[in-house]
Amino acid sequence: MTLTEMIDTLKTKFNPSKVINSLEKTAGFHNKSDTDSEGNDPGEDLKNNPYSDSVGDSVKSSSAVKISQNGVSPLIKMINVWKIYEMGDTEFAALAGINLEINEGEFLVVLGPSGSGKSTLMNLIGCLDLPSKGTIYLNSKDISKLAESELARIRGQMIGFIFQSFNLIPTLNAEENVTLPMEFQEADMQKGRKRADYLLEVVGLSDKKQNLPSQLSGGQMQRVAIARSLSVNPPIILADEPTGNLDSKTGNYILNFLDGLHKKEGKTIIIVTHDLEIVKLATRVVYLKDGKIEKIETCTKEKPCELGY
Ligand SMILES: Nc1ncnc2c1ncn2[C@@H]1O[C@H](COP(=O)(O)OP(=O)(O)OP(=O)(O)O)[C@@H](O)[C@H]1O
Ligand SMILES: [Mg+2]
Repeated sequence: MTLTEMIDTLKTKFNPSKVINSLEKTAGFHNKSDTDSEGNDPGEDLKNNPYSDSVGDSVKSSSAVKISQNGVSPLIKMINVWKIYEMGDTEFAALAGINLEINEGEFLVVLGPSGSGKSTLMNLIGCLDLPSKGTIYLNSKDISKLAESELARIRGQMIGFIFQSFNLIPTLNAEENVTLPMEFQEADMQKGRKRADYLLEVVGLSDKKQNLPSQLSGGQMQRVAIARSLSVNPPIILADEPTGNLDSKTGNYILNFLDGLHKKEGKTIIIVTHDLEIVKLATRVVYLKDGKIEKIETCTKEKPCELGY
């Protein structure tokens, strides 16, 4: 069965997002260290300029979702949002009354100690989970009580994920992993493959298109995951500790890449990180503690934000 046939079967028989979720869970073991078994430097084939002009504009600018901003409403608005986990007789509030507005084009860093609720917050913003209480508007649409299929559709169009566990599908090669989100969006697959090739070129992996995840180093897998996160050209990029386990060269590459996405492409970046160099790029920093927002700091060019705690 060809890849396209396999995906068509999956799409018709199952809920695509559930299939992807389960495949991704299976693939979780691919989160290995950033230096491969031969000791190669994962950053060795990185390009200096991730915005190489060598591929046509039609491929670069895929059909991005238009944001219906009216210049007033924030892109994301959270009103008194709670996430409560029940464990036996006890309840635990991972998020306890979050009020937060995020505007289009922001570079928002989320900081806070382990267990403070950062990933929980990202999961809610990324339509991966629903709040227990409260309201979340994404692009003026209330997403707090949607069915999973609708959440999956919005997630597929609006959000690019760069999470630490790369969640690549182990049986698909690099190019197929990058193409997959476009297949689920029913995109024109001739253009889709061109865009996948372009994105793999951008992340410096043109020569690894046919490699399975198990045939890539950790840094290379991270870069395939970045290429995949951009395949449907989402307006929002969510990143959870994207440079956590990487060597400094690959880490710097991701840093420059995120900066470019923000400044040159106007993407809204929301990122959990303890990397000071990334914090310096932020327009605002949100500090979480015990599921609550402790403070929000606005950063400027003259006075960039720091790891202020
Ligand atoms: N499914 C769950 N059931 C019960 N408690 C949970 C569940 N998921 C998360 N938690 C709890 O919610 C709190 C917030 O978790 P979260 O993963 O958001 O923290 P975090 O800030 O991302 O931490 P880290 O920096 O360690 O990644 C933690 O105390 C965690 O134990
Ligand atoms: Mg976390």
